[in-house]
Amino acid sequence: MAVRIIVGAQWGDEGKGKVVDLLSKKANYVVRYQGGANAGHTLKFDDREVVLHLIPSGIFNGDATCIIGNGVVVDPRALLEEIGNVEKMGVNLDDKLLISESAHVILPYHRILDQVKEKSRGDDAIGTTGRGIGPAYVSKVSRVGIRMSDLHHPELFREKVEKNLADINQALVNVYNEPRIDPEEMFDSLKPCLARIQNFICNTTARLHDAIDNGEQILMEGAQGTLLDLDHGTYPYVTSSSPTAGGACTGSGIPPTAVSHVMGITKAYCTRVGNGPFPTELTDETGEKFRKHGAEFGATTGRPRRCGWLDLVALKYAVKLNGINEIAFTKLDVLDHFDTIEVCTEYDIEGEKTDTFPVSSQQLNTVKPVYQTLQGWRGTTRDIDRFKDLPGPAKEYIEFVEDFIGVPFKIISTGPKRTETILRY
Ligand code: IMP
Repeated sequence: MAVRIIVGAQWGDEGKGKVVDLLSKKANYVVRYQGGANAGHTLKFDDREVVLHLIPSGIFNGDATCIIGNGVVVDPRALLEEIGNVEKMGVNLDDKLLISESAHVILPYHRILDQVKEKSRGDDAIGTTGRGIGPAYVSKVSRVGIRMSDLHHPELFREKVEKNLADINQALVNVYNEPRIDPEEMFDSLKPCLARIQNFICNTTARLHDAIDNGEQILMEGAQGTLLDLDHGTYPYVTSSSPTAGGACTGSGIPPTAVSHVMGITKAYCTRVGNGPFPTELTDETGEKFRKHGAEFGATTGRPRRCGWLDLVALKYAVKLNGINEIAFTKLDVLDHFDTIEVCTEYDIEGEKTDTFPVSSQQLNTVKPVYQTLQGWRGTTRDIDRFKDLPGPAKEYIEFVEDFIGVPFKIISTGPKRTETILRY
């Protein structure tokens, strides 16, 4: 391996944290390339459970240097809290964490804007995490964003923020009927975080180029998932960044020619948080069963996740978009509780069958999933760590999906812990 991208192949929450944690043991660098503290990557090891939002999931396993890349939007207050939690667990981050000087800063006004804009959308709300992600990327694209490198120049930082705040206060007061933000209060609340974060900031792109030249092992950790991608997801019900494999290059400075593997992570079924189309969603007791056995509640917001059967039309689309050449299949054990298993192999659009994933959310809302029924296994797969020990129907399910999408399954996860994993390398 030289550079391996780990990408969510669904709507996020596929179990990327566990997979990155596992693979990071052999990595020299683990790099987050987009998103921000909207992500919640859960790791379970040594009877501990940790949820990371910004710090890459390689922080606890092995000696990899963890990089928050230029494509990430960083909320300093969320990062400070996370740094504190990780350090309490005995990890010295001074030697392990780097933040790109080009990464953009989420300021308190981004969070407020995210929340008031969602409120004002009413029934058309996207269901954002309210962490300021969209407004921070808006500042970036509008070229008024604050970058990490600005923190090294306090006067300039203050000047830029004050200018932005003048505009934002106008909008808050006059458009959204919200109180204005006091700049001094905001600067005071940020001071301790900014001071702590400064030491981690550097030119991470140059570090990664050196690592590639030296043949070092780099893991790229995506957040959210393919179907939440700003360009290729179920727009407008998407996040504001590019979780797909292309985003790993722009979000880190690593060239596409350096990438050797793209690993897609998919659950053995589907979930989604927030609004937007979801063809295989189950709003009945079967959906509730998934939620119960899969503990399907958001790691960042605690919201119940919407649940449904595995959608192979969507998964094939993710394979093609990302160039996925290996799969990690997670939460197989959740299917232990079902007598039969449905899997969507085609969509019916007004009587016409198709295996093409529609780009338009309006059209996606109207498709009817066409299912194939497979046998369940009425036994436990929990904790199994060898493929040959799986119940027959579980092997058949895996082989069915593998054949359908034409990509080998290299990791099969049978529980949240590191040890509850089948490795097929
Ligand atoms: P935002 O990223 O907070 O702007 O939210 C946009 C959409 O992406 C909403 O539907 C969120 O629920 C969803 N989303 C954002 N982050 C995650 C994640 O880490 N997992 C799953 N869904 C997410």
